[in-house]
Amino acid sequence: MAQTFQEISPSDFFYRNRDIAGFTNPARAIYSAIRELVENSLDAAENIGVAPDIYIRLKFLGEAGREAQVYQLRVQDNGSGIPARHIPSAFGQVLFGSKYKLKQARGTFGLGGTMAILYGQITTHQPALVISSTGSSRIYMYRLMIDIQRNKPLILDRKILLNKEQWRGTIVEFSLEGDYFRAMSKIVEYLKQTALVNPYANLTFVDPRGRLYKFTRVTTRMPTPPKETLPHPYGVDVEIFQRLIQVTPTRNMIDFLRTHFHRVGETTARKFLEFSKIPPSKNPRKLTHQEIVHLVRMMKRFKDFLPPDASCLSPLGKDLLKAGILKELEPEFVAVCQRRPSTYAGHPFIVEVAIAYGGKIPRKGDFTIYRFANRIPLLYDEASDVSVKVIRSMNWRRYKVTPDMPIAILIHICSTKVPYKTVGKEFIADRPEVRREVLNGIREAARHLQRFLTKREHVNRERKRLSIFAKYLPKIAQFSTQLAGKSQPPNVEILLRSVRKFELEN
Ligand SMILES: Nc1ncnc2c1ncn2[C@@H]1O[C@H](COP(=O)(O)OP(=O)(O)O)[C@@H](O)[C@H]1O
Ligand SMILES: [Mg+2]
Repeated sequence: MAQTFQEISPSDFFYRNRDIAGFTNPARAIYSAIRELVENSLDAAENIGVAPDIYIRLKFLGEAGREAQVYQLRVQDNGSGIPARHIPSAFGQVLFGSKYKLKQARGTFGLGGTMAILYGQITTHQPALVISSTGSSRIYMYRLMIDIQRNKPLILDRKILLNKEQWRGTIVEFSLEGDYFRAMSKIVEYLKQTALVNPYANLTFVDPRGRLYKFTRVTTRMPTPPKETLPHPYGVDVEIFQRLIQVTPTRNMIDFLRTHFHRVGETTARKFLEFSKIPPSKNPRKLTHQEIVHLVRMMKRFKDFLPPDASCLSPLGKDLLKAGILKELEPEFVAVCQRRPSTYAGHPFIVEVAIAYGGKIPRKGDFTIYRFANRIPLLYDEASDVSVKVIRSMNWRRYKVTPDMPIAILIHICSTKVPYKTVGKEFIADRPEVRREVLNGIREAARHLQRFLTKREHVNRERKRLSIFAKYLPKIAQFSTQLAGKSQPPNVEILLRSVRKFELEN
C-alpha cells in the first residue's frame, strides 16, 4: 500500500499534542487556562505602564462525565486592549502574537491564550467571546471559533459598542472542561505567588463555589519596563543572519554589523571583520552562503564582543521583591539579592534571590521553594528545575540552617529567552551559566540568613540568662541583706529595669 503524506497546521499540531502546552488532563487544563489568560492580562497592563487590575471568574456550568465538569472562565483586565483588526487572530490563530520581539515578556510563542481557547473549543464545542477596547470611542465584541485545520479564526459574530466611559482593557470568556476541585489548591497557590511577584497588581478570583479570593496591591510602583533590543552576536545563527541580510538597507559590512547587532560599534565591527577575514567594504547582500556560515561561526569564536546590556530585561528589583514577600508571607526576616546581568548563548538574564524566615512560612521538614521566571510562578516539575538542584546540592549546615526551620527560598530568573525545558513553561533547564548565578545568589542571601540566625541564637541565650537572673535577683538581695545583718535590702529594681530594657531592644 502506498504511504500517504499530509501537512498539518500549527493549530492542528497543538490540538494533537496538547500535553506539551500544559493541557494534559482536566485538572491541569483548568489551571493552565487561568494562568495563560492572567499572564496575558499582566503583560497587557505592564506594556502601557498601568498597574494591573485583573478579575477572574470561574463558573460551574454542568457535569461532563465522571472526571470532569464544564466551567465558564472569564478574565477581565485594564490592559492595553487589542486593536480590532488583530482580535480574531490573537485568539483564533496559534503562533500569532505581539511578543516575538527581543525583550522580556511572559508570553513567548503566541500560544498560551489561544491554546486555552482551543482546548475549550474541543472539549465543549462552544465559541469564545472577546471584548476589547484600546480606550478609543469603540468597544469591539467578537464571538469566534478556531478553524483548527487551517489555523484561522472563524468569526461568528461581531459587534461594535460605543465606549462612553472610555473603558480600556480586554475581557475573554469561554467554556472548557476541567476538574476544579483537583486543581483548586494549585490555582489558589498560583494566584498567591503571582501576587507575591507582582506586588503592584490587584487580583480578584471568584471560584465556582462563589468564594472570593482577593490579592491587593501594596504599591503602584512598577519595575522599569524592558526595552526592545537587537540580537547579540553570540546568540545569532545562520537563519537570523540571512533574514537581516534580506532586509538591511546598509551597503557595507561595518554598517551592517553596527546597525543590526547588539553592542557592536565601529571599532568592534572592524576588529571582527579583520578576525574573520571579510573585507569591511563588502556589500552584505553579496555575501555567499559559505561566507555567511563562516561569519556566524566566527561570531561565536570572537572574544571581544561586549556582553549584552540588560535594558531588555525587567527584573523586579530588591524593594519590590521584598514588598511582595512581606505582603504574602509576613516573615520575621527576609534577605533579598539581585545578581548582575549575565548571559547564556548570547541571551541576557538576571537572577534574583530571596530567603525568608518565619511568619506564614510552614515548618514542614524541608524548605518551601518558590520559582519564578519573567514574573510568572512555576508550580509544576519542581524536582527537575535548576534552582531546586542547586538548593539540594548546597551544604546548609554551613549557614546554621536545618531542614525543620520555617524557611522559604525564592528564585526569579528573567531573560529575553528563559531556558524553559517545555512550551508549558514549567521548569528551567540546567545551563551552567544559569546554575552559577543561581548558586551565587542563594549563597549571598544565605549568608544574611546565617547572620540573622546567629544573632537570634545569641539573643535567645542572653534572654534565658537574664530571665534566670531576674527570678533570683530579689532572693539573692534578701539573703545578702540578712547575711550582712542589715534591715533594708538594696533596690534591685534598677538592675531589673536594665534587664527588661535589653529584652525590649532585641
Ligand atoms: N488580555 C490581553 N490584552 C491585550 N492583548 C492580548 C491579551 N491577551 C492576548 N493578547 C494578544 O494576543 C496575542 C496572543 O496571545 P497568546 O496566544 O497568549 O500568545 P503570547 O502571549 O505567547 O504572545 C498576544 O501576543 C497579545 O498581543
Ligand atoms: Mg500569552
